[in-house]
Amino acid sequence: MARSFTEIADCTADEIFEIFELCAKMKSGEIAPKPLAGKSAVCIFTKPSLRTRISFEVGINQLGGQSLYLTDKEIKIGVRESVQDVAKVLSRMVGLIMIRTFAHSDVTGLAEHATVPVINGLTDLVHPCQIMGDYMTIMEHMKKDVYKIAYLGDGNNVCNSWLNLASLIPIDLRIGTDKSTPPDKGMLDKAMQNKNSHILLTDDPKEAVKDADVIYTDVWASMGQKDQKNEKQEVLHKFQVNAALVSGANPDCLVMHCLPAERGREITDEVIDGPHSVVFDEAENRLHIQKAIMTFMLEH
Ligand code: CP
Ligand code: NVA
Repeated sequence: MARSFTEIADCTADEIFEIFELCAKMKSGEIAPKPLAGKSAVCIFTKPSLRTRISFEVGINQLGGQSLYLTDKEIKIGVRESVQDVAKVLSRMVGLIMIRTFAHSDVTGLAEHATVPVINGLTDLVHPCQIMGDYMTIMEHMKKDVYKIAYLGDGNNVCNSWLNLASLIPIDLRIGTDKSTPPDKGMLDKAMQNKNSHILLTDDPKEAVKDADVIYTDVWASMGQKDQKNEKQEVLHKFQVNAALVSGANPDCLVMHCLPAERGREITDEVIDGPHSVVFDEAENRLHIQKAIMTFMLEH
């Protein structure tokens, strides 16, 4: 079995920092490994994407490889053929598999049966590459041992990945969400077991952002849940990231959003385009962190 990245906690805390270091060296041009030279990598998408698709395709090319794009129209994973057969066939032909899909079990199933690394490009449960890139962005903008991070809005895949990171490295993570939209219980429990992190779940947005170094938000209705848009809006509207809320955080706070944003809903134009926002640095770092993650998985 190759090393895969189905969730952040597939790595140890030391490995996470090794990946951050590798990312910094690759981003600065100090090193330029080509672990995919002469190989192809497949990117499977059963959900839409701008950032993930482009950052993986560009990244695979920069690592010396050729990128192939597959959608569920072609493979119908788990329907036309089993996850395990897809994993075994692809492993005979490509050097790496990236997948964005609904069921997290499809990604862990591929990882279990593939002999090449499988990288999670988002599932309903987690979005690990996103949060790795986001933490890199925070470190580039602010130097601290433990960041106070306020996540506001839906307890979704992005929120779960913050918890997943907090289960490994020390984070003061405050999640402001409604009681009806909590994060995954397993991810929450695991994060709470890390005595070096502090995890707060609150339905008071002001409590969540008090003195925060980072205010983070994401869409209230994720891909596959857009039919719940009105219900989510009803319970989450008080968690909108607007100028009044930002004024309760650290005056130098960073505002982050994984994008795509629904401007005027979870975040206002004034904030996303304002001086605290680092959303486009975050988007760019998807490329750099994924190159480091792919290199790390291919070389271990
Ligand atoms: N942030 C993110 O994953 O964007 P895409 O959905 O466009 O890939
Ligand atoms: N939570 C969002 C993230 C998009 C990058 C979704 O799953 O749609």
